[in-house]
Amino acid sequence: MERRRELFGGRSAAILALAGSAIGLGNIWRFPYMVGQMGGAAFIILYLASCLLLSLPIFLAEAIIGHRTHAGTIGAMEQLAPGTKWKWLGLLTVLSPMVILSYYSVVGGWSIDYLWRSLTVGFHVDEVGAVSSAFGAFISKPWGPLVCHTLFLGACAGIVSAGIKSGIERFNKITMPLLFVLIVLIMVYSISLPGAGAGVDYLLKPDFSKITPSAIAAAMGQSFFSLSLGVGTILTYSSYIHRKENILVTGAGTVFFDLLFALIAGFAIMPAVFAAGIEPGAGPGLIFETLPFIFAKMGTTVPWVSSVVAVLFFVTIVFAAFTSAISMFEVGVAYLVEQKGLSRRRATLLIFAVTWLLGALCSLSFGPLSGVKIFGRTIFNFCDFLTSNFLMTFGGLLFVIFVGWKMDKAAVRDEFTHGGTARFNGAVFDVFWFLLRYIAPPAIVVIFLTNFVA
Ligand code: TRP
Repeated sequence: MERRRELFGGRSAAILALAGSAIGLGNIWRFPYMVGQMGGAAFIILYLASCLLLSLPIFLAEAIIGHRTHAGTIGAMEQLAPGTKWKWLGLLTVLSPMVILSYYSVVGGWSIDYLWRSLTVGFHVDEVGAVSSAFGAFISKPWGPLVCHTLFLGACAGIVSAGIKSGIERFNKITMPLLFVLIVLIMVYSISLPGAGAGVDYLLKPDFSKITPSAIAAAMGQSFFSLSLGVGTILTYSSYIHRKENILVTGAGTVFFDLLFALIAGFAIMPAVFAAGIEPGAGPGLIFETLPFIFAKMGTTVPWVSSVVAVLFFVTIVFAAFTSAISMFEVGVAYLVEQKGLSRRRATLLIFAVTWLLGALCSLSFGPLSGVKIFGRTIFNFCDFLTSNFLMTFGGLLFVIFVGWKMDKAAVRDEFTHGGTARFNGAVFDVFWFLLRYIAPPAIVVIFLTNFVA
């Protein structure tokens, strides 16, 4: 079988790769600012519940399809539901990660620029307004962001073209443990800042009045995004996991690490935000606008340490973004290699070309192309809106319906219980089956509707 697919080397390689996909800007950028906007500790409780009761079952559904078929999104649908319309779900989930990748790479590019700055000139501004306008001025210039986007995407292409084992697996094996060490160091620094205690309290003492329907919907949406669900990435990576690995253990391990990383990132960012006397609800600008300000401000008291922390922080962001971006990249490459018979190199080049172009348009939409609007949104915002609010939820819903209502229950049980050998055979499967069939579909519809109205 010379075309037999390459597989991950073992359980830890699979978990690290899946965690690499899950852990990204969603954990370091989106989670902390949402915690800040949605009310601190209470939101964290909702988030824990969403991960466990909603996103883990959805994650497993996607993983089961990939692990069962050992094929990419389209191939998997053709195996499990040959000759049906389900192949469109396969196609959708080849396209949506490419759209996400395009704008994700732009943000990845910004982080490269910030890393460069933290290594060279540092952040020497002492007013938050000045930092925000510096950020605005940077992203609206055409060339700088475009060059950074190209560097970011090019690096991803390099890793993906090296293959599953010597590219993706090796990169994640080095990067993921490093990311944990870095974020813990940053957390320790952040908590040690004078005045950080208020931030720690904010994350630990729940104000139950903050548990509102919109906070619940936001927590569900965030856990969905953070676990890279709904776009075929989890499916594709799971298709590279050996038969003998237990998919439930792999899935639970991934969710655990993703959650842990988000929590540590929260404790790395919020205490610093409070120490600097900034409002926690600063929103999406938190890591690019507020944090450089904090680093600059802290730099006036302990210059050496804070510049090192700034560098570490942006290293963390850049590499976390890399490991997620390569997982999106791989979905399209797997499709072209398996279904179209292209070589890995050519497939990588093709995906690079398409996503580079769309990403370039996204990047320019902060400057020269800011006047171009699609349904009232700039190109970047439209791509984000289309994927986060529409394609991801739609794809997730279809995966869940597919596994819960269409796929053979015996096959699902077989995957879930690892061929009946797992210790928790009966009851745990029943809980999963119930969550998947009756809770996940309406919950995804709620996420979709709240995103849409908001
Ligand atoms: N989970 C990623 C993060 O936390 C973001 C993401 C969303 C993603 N959807 C994805 C990554 C699909 C890879 C594939 O940053």
